[in-house]
Amino acid sequence: MMQTVDDPVRLREVLAGVRDQERVAFVPTMGNLHAGHLALVREARRRAGIVVVSIFVNPLQFGPNEDLGRYPRTLDADRKALQAEGVDLLFAPPVEAIYPIPLEQQTRVEVPGISDIHCGAARPGHFSGVATVVCKLFNMVQPDVAVFGKKDYQQLRVIQHMVRDLAMPVEIIGLDTVRERDGLAMSSRNQYLDPEQRRVAPRLYAVLRDGRTRILGGRRDWRALEKEMTAGLAADGLRPDYAAIVDAETLLPPTPQSRQLVILAAAWLGGARLIDNIEIDLNQNHSTGSL
Ligand code: PAJ
Repeated sequence: MMQTVDDPVRLREVLAGVRDQERVAFVPTMGNLHAGHLALVREARRRAGIVVVSIFVNPLQFGPNEDLGRYPRTLDADRKALQAEGVDLLFAPPVEAIYPIPLEQQTRVEVPGISDIHCGAARPGHFSGVATVVCKLFNMVQPDVAVFGKKDYQQLRVIQHMVRDLAMPVEIIGLDTVRERDGLAMSSRNQYLDPEQRRVAPRLYAVLRDGRTRILGGRRDWRALEKEMTAGLAADGLRPDYAAIVDAETLLPPTPQSRQLVILAAAWLGGARLIDNIEIDLNQNHSTGSL
């Protein structure tokens, strides 16, 4: 039976009784769960005896003109889905439990550099809001291992830097993006798309796949290829924010030594800001590059 807890003190009590015997795996989410989230839960289930999932729509990571107010909240359906996955503990705190003091006075975790580029440039303060809430949730849950999706590639790197830089005793696992049949990365924000926009949305991943094919075919003129990709997105009816071909570790422009790359992209479609990415292994045989 899954237990639901909304109070951090109660959470600590429940976990104190089990953490001696079992490893604790943690999956932080903002709820409105889909198959992508549930894949993380299954990975957590494989890695530990106790699985904790949090659902918390974190106001600290939303900009003033972003979608905090309309972000979909579906706690009853989420609870059923997590129960069916064999989750042990659902932590679903109210905002006051996480932020009892005014947000301006909240101590923050800043991960410099990597938080300021790509999506961080378009969303100032976003990754600090993410790092702060994840740090706080880690302190409350004290997991042995935590599972994140590569769908939010830059977020995963920010968390890995935070854990390394602050010596947090938690292992971070990154999991592949779960997609719809047409390639669109699953996301709670896909619900903002109308049917016509939903038809166009898979072009984001199609452009990334095409970029990867070209790189595996030998292209190394990154800036020109990025321009071609943003032009391709615009031609398909998206409003590109950026497309960046970068080293998969640093998320900075590839060096001649870079072997693992990732193409990160963000684009607006109506009122939805979609993000996606694709990894590229330059050690891979060129002929197997096209998906
Ligand atoms: P949320 O968007 O709910 O995502 C929770 C976790 O699910 C993240 O690790 C995200 O990368 C992963 N995820 C989302 N869509 C996925 C997909 N299609 N395939 C695989 N994994 C996917 O990310 C957040 O919440 C928040 O920023 C959070 C980390 C909870 C901090 O507030």
